[in-house]
Amino acid sequence: MAFDYDLCVVGGCGRVGLPLALCFAAAGLQVSVHDINQAAVAQVNGRVMPFQEDGAQPVLNEVLGKNLTVADDPDLIRRSAAVVVVIGTPVDEHLNPQFGRLTEFFDRLSEQLVDGHLIVLRSTLFPGSTDRLARLLNRADKKVHVSFCPERIAEGKGMEELRSLPQIVSGCSEEAYQRASQLFSVLTQDIIPLKPFEAELAKLFTNSWRYIQFAAANQFYMMAQDFNADFYRIYDAMRYRYPRTEGFPKAGFAAGPCLFKDTMQLASFNNNNFMLGHSAMLINEGLPNFVVDQLRRRRNLAEETVGILGMAFKANVDDGRESLSYKLRKVLQFECRRVLCHDPVMTGEDHLVDLEQLYRDCQVLILGTPHKEYKELKIPPHIEVVDVWNFLPKENVSESIR
Ligand SMILES: NC(=O)c1ccc[n+]([C@@H]2O[C@H](COP(=O)([O-])OP(=O)(O)OC[C@H]3O[C@@H](n4cnc5c(N)ncnc54)[C@H](O)[C@@H]3O)[C@@H](O)[C@H]2O)c1
Repeated sequence: MAFDYDLCVVGGCGRVGLPLALCFAAAGLQVSVHDINQAAVAQVNGRVMPFQEDGAQPVLNEVLGKNLTVADDPDLIRRSAAVVVVIGTPVDEHLNPQFGRLTEFFDRLSEQLVDGHLIVLRSTLFPGSTDRLARLLNRADKKVHVSFCPERIAEGKGMEELRSLPQIVSGCSEEAYQRASQLFSVLTQDIIPLKPFEAELAKLFTNSWRYIQFAAANQFYMMAQDFNADFYRIYDAMRYRYPRTEGFPKAGFAAGPCLFKDTMQLASFNNNNFMLGHSAMLINEGLPNFVVDQLRRRRNLAEETVGILGMAFKANVDDGRESLSYKLRKVLQFECRRVLCHDPVMTGEDHLVDLEQLYRDCQVLILGTPHKEYKELKIPPHIEVVDVWNFLPKENVSESIR
């Protein structure tokens, strides 16, 4: 069967899908994007990136209408040789994965799937999902080839990392593996073959390991603070010309749409026997409460206005999903007279105030997200600043609670 497109990226207006579609199109493939988010589809078709992603806008300008087609019409799937699926895979309110979402998704797509389709699952998956889906799909009257190639980019750096990172490729059949390898070889020659189950675990191990590393730094930070020691003097000493601590991260509000939920997926997969993961969750999620508790011991927060600098879940992205700045805001709202929020990147949010108002109204400022814009801040000296990240210029931060 002749196809109009080399691939269709389903969920292709999302944070992972769009950079991927743009990179494939920039490499010369005929790319289609199907997404149910009509607003995002309209924005992309209007040549506007729906979110900030370094280097993406010029590529969108170049490829749209040439070899990139974007629509909410699912028929694009039927007309594409490969179907790359990057829809979100959140955990539910009890922190359990939702495999049913994927089966429902494929049930709805059954009309669009055709014999010989290569299906590349790219969303982060509960271990065993790829093989299970391949069995379910091939039980129907169609013969499709299923592959799992986990996305490993860091948000905001996708355009660069999609071309520079090695690509893990797995397939439920030799043909699935070969075709997926061929597809990704237009982005990188550095292909790592794994079985689907191994690839699923590799992705979850990577994110959980990172989450645990942040938790170690956060636990040490809280310990040092509890004993009135300067964590970052210790941190600098530990790292100075000592290669074994090079990767040791700073303390900070570690959250976002991936690390927490992937650690919980792994815990769920292992029958909730993942003490390190659960401990990491308690430590990382407890940091906002710790910071507020420390402030409360010294200040009469009930009479004060506290400001949060940065609402995004990490520096230099406009993504507030699962950001601990919102949890911090919630804890502060319970304790303080008023809470004000600022973010130079997440400009679409209507609850944000400008720096002028923060400086005028706040007695305390807490750095929620170390956006690069904050390096230049000139915070009035009467305001106490809490910088868990050790990011702001020293003259801005009070000695007692860095
Ligand atoms: N954000 C990251 O940096 C990152 C990195 C690596 C892996 N991942 C994983 O990638 C997956 C996607 O994450 P994301 O951050 O891009 O999510 P996202 O919410 O930004 O994107 C998902 C997109 O899928 C679309 N969509 C949802 N259901 C659909 C359907 N039935 N048909 C068509 N489109 C549909 C949504 O409209 C949205 O545009 C998740 O599994 C995530 O864990 C994310």
